[in-house]
Amino acid sequence: MSIYLDSSATTAPRPEVIELVTKILTEDWGNPSSLHGWGERAAVILEKARWQISDLLNASSPDNIIFTSGGTEADNLAIFGITSNYNDPQHIIISSVEHSAIERPVYFLEKKGWQVTRLPVNREGKVNPEDLKNALQTNTVLVSIIYGQSEVGTIQPIKKLVEITKNYSKALFHSDAVQMVGRLPVDVEDLEVDLLSLSGHKFYSIQGAGALYLRKGISLNPLFHGGGQENSLRSGTQALPSIVSLGLAASLAQKEIESEALRLTELRDYFIDLILSQCPYLMLTGDKYSRLPHHASFIINHPSPDITGRKIVRYLSSQGVAISAGSACNSGKSLPSPILLAMGYSETEALKGIRFSFDRHTTKEDLKLAILYLSQNL
Ligand SMILES: Cc1ncc(COP(=O)(O)O)c(C=O)c1O
Repeated sequence: MSIYLDSSATTAPRPEVIELVTKILTEDWGNPSSLHGWGERAAVILEKARWQISDLLNASSPDNIIFTSGGTEADNLAIFGITSNYNDPQHIIISSVEHSAIERPVYFLEKKGWQVTRLPVNREGKVNPEDLKNALQTNTVLVSIIYGQSEVGTIQPIKKLVEITKNYSKALFHSDAVQMVGRLPVDVEDLEVDLLSLSGHKFYSIQGAGALYLRKGISLNPLFHGGGQENSLRSGTQALPSIVSLGLAASLAQKEIESEALRLTELRDYFIDLILSQCPYLMLTGDKYSRLPHHASFIINHPSPDITGRKIVRYLSSQGVAISAGSACNSGKSLPSPILLAMGYSETEALKGIRFSFDRHTTKEDLKLAILYLSQNL
């Protein structure tokens, strides 16, 4: 028995993706920059993937897409690529519930003298647009707000936040949309974001490819200098098998995005109601309604300090059920989740977060079994 409920961490590549990757690895493995036939074929395949991503995001041109190794690199490229336009430290705004792929680069800048505002969130993990309005300064050069929060599932009102940023400042707007893209429609033209990060392995591509959307006309400095690939914004031979699988995963996601989001939302709500009725110690975290369709997260409000999120993850794993815990581990010691702390939970509660995340294979039967195992241990 094995039940995988950790698709916010990574997803199993689609069979069509594996088939295509196998073909690339065996037949079309050329370097897209080479001038001969192998290179030409590889370049055509690479550009097709760029079109597919551009299409999924409704970008005005495939030229807006820079391929990266994944979400972390796309986030780092956005933060350092924009802020390195300035000789002197300026002001940057993020939320207090960013993924570490944003929080850590911004912390690095803070140590270098940049002024950083981390917007507070409410108990559901949501930023208040008024707080953003009040935080904007004349020297704010970048606002970066996560779209769908990975640990608690809350979806931020990105369109509204972009509107405020544009109305009250000259700052650029970036969103880490790694948990959103491929799961719910994301339209960069409608949102009017300047930059947006995505990662293929979160929606059934193989690992090793992501992308940064960059609106035309914005000056971005590369992290890597070298052969000038990706319009000189990301030097290094493109990882063709990963990128091609990202492109195919994007076009397959696009075909079923509305119906699959609906199916997952129904499954998620069924799961949340059932688990809360069977496991009285659980408390939902994140926004119940403005929430990623594949995501359900909780705090185990059990009086015993021994019952932590990590312990429950290990217990369920021993039963063949894969989920994840919010808190990180440092030198073998569990640390409270900074996301739950930012949402106003206590240190003890912030050690007790768990996350279930679903994919295209998840069924009600899987969920019922996971709940049964959990209820037996709580
Ligand atoms: C919101 C968010 N941003 C960034 C990342 C990092 O993406 P990657 O694993 O592709 O580097 C993740 C991965 O979990 C994520 O959930």
